[in-house]
Amino acid sequence: MPQIYSLLVTLCGLLYLVAALAIEERATPAPFSLPVSRTSERYQAGKRSFTSTLSATHAHGDILVNMTFGSQTLPMLFDTGSSELWVMSTYYTGSLSGDLYYNIGASTTWTPISGYTYSVNYGTASSDSAGVVGTDKVSLGGITVTGGALGAANSGTPSTSRAGIIGMPRGSMTVKNSAGTSIHENTFMQNIASSLPAPIFAAYLPWGTGAAASCIDFGYIDSTKYTGTLSTVPLISSAYWAFTSTSYYVNGVKHSVTSTTNGEAIIDTGTTLLRVYPEIASTFYAGVTGAYQDSGTWVFPCSTTTFPSLTLDVGGVQASVIHEIDFGYWTTLSNGTEICEGGIQVETSSLMVFGEIFLASNYVVFNDAAGTIQIANIVF
Ligand SMILES: *[C@@H]1O[C@H](CO)[C@@H](O)[C@H](O)[C@H]1NC(C)=O
Ligand SMILES: *[C@@H]1O[C@H](CO)[C@@H](O)[C@H](O)[C@H]1NC(C)=O
Repeated sequence: MPQIYSLLVTLCGLLYLVAALAIEERATPAPFSLPVSRTSERYQAGKRSFTSTLSATHAHGDILVNMTFGSQTLPMLFDTGSSELWVMSTYYTGSLSGDLYYNIGASTTWTPISGYTYSVNYGTASSDSAGVVGTDKVSLGGITVTGGALGAANSGTPSTSRAGIIGMPRGSMTVKNSAGTSIHENTFMQNIASSLPAPIFAAYLPWGTGAAASCIDFGYIDSTKYTGTLSTVPLISSAYWAFTSTSYYVNGVKHSVTSTTNGEAIIDTGTTLLRVYPEIASTFYAGVTGAYQDSGTWVFPCSTTTFPSLTLDVGGVQASVIHEIDFGYWTTLSNGTEICEGGIQVETSSLMVFGEIFLASNYVVFNDAAGTIQIANIVF
C-alpha cells in the first residue's frame, strides 16, 4: 500500500508518447458508479469483540476496484496519491502465487513498447514497483480504452490483496523511453474523460461498523451521498490533490498550525491513516483518556467510545472527521492489556496526508480540469 504520494518524477520532461488511443464508442457520454471492496474491515472503538491478539489482516483497508486487462479482471488499488497505472505480470522473475497478476503470455491485446520502462517509489519499499511499458485494452466500469499506457511489473513485491495500482493524480503518468528520458503519458482518467459527462470522479468511502457500501462515482456527483452543500476548494499543485491546511478545531476550539510555515495536505485514497502534524495529533489525543504514544504511534484504550470532535482545514473549508477514528488494528501488551492504534497519526513532513480515515467522513469530488476538489460530510 502506498503510504505517500509518488516522487516528483511526473514534473520532469514534457514529451508525450503518441499512441493510437481508442476509447470504446458510447452513444452519449455516460456516468457510472464503481463498487469498491476493501482488504479488511475497520471496527468501531468499543464495539469489537476480541478473538485474537495482533491481527495483521486488520492493519490495512486498501480500496480495491476491478479493472480488466485484455480479458483478465483483477483487483487494483485505487490511488489518488500516485500517478502510474501498473499491474503485476508474468514478466516478474520471482515466484508468483495465487492469481493476482496479469498473464501476459495468455493476452492477445498486450503490445509492449520497445525499450519503455516505468519505476515507482511510494515511500514504502514493499509497495515499490518497476517494469516494462506497453499498450493494452483496459476496462473500468464498462469503459474500455485501447492503446493507453500500462506498466507491466517485472520487479517489486507481489501483493496478497491486489494486482496493481491505478494512479489517479492530477497531471500525467511518467515512463522512460528507450533513451532513458522521462516522458509523459495520459493517465487512465485522462483517457476516459471524454466518455464521461464531466471529467470528474468522486470518492464515497464510508468505513466501519454499519457503513454503506463504498464506491467511486465517475462523471457525476451523487447528492444522496453527502449532507448539506459541497464546498469548493482550490488546489495548490499541478501534480497532486493538494491544498492549504493551516488551522483545526478540537472540541470546537480553534487552533492555528504553528510548527510549519507550509500548512499543506493532500487527499490520498491510497493511504489508510489520517496523518496530521504532531501538534494536531497531540491536541486531539489530549482529549482521549488513556491515550499515549508508543514508539511514536498514538494508541488508546480499546474501551474508548467517545472522542473529541475534530475538524481539519481543507483549503479554507473546515471538514469534520465525524466517524470512528481507530482503524481496527489492535495488539496485546505484555501485561495482557489490549490497546488500539489510532487512525489519526503523526506526519513529520510539511505535507499532511488525509487518507481513508478522513475519507470515511467526507465525500470528495476530484476535478483536475477545474483545479479544485469539492467536499461535504458523507451520508454514512
Ligand atoms: C470483482 O470481480 C469479482 C469477480 O467477478 C467479484 O466477485 C467482486 O465482487 C468484484 N469486486 C468489486 C469491488 O467489484
Ligand atoms: C499495562 O501496561 C499499560 C502500558 O504501560 C498500562 O497503561 C496498563 O495500565 C497496564 N495494565 C495493567 C493491567 O497493568
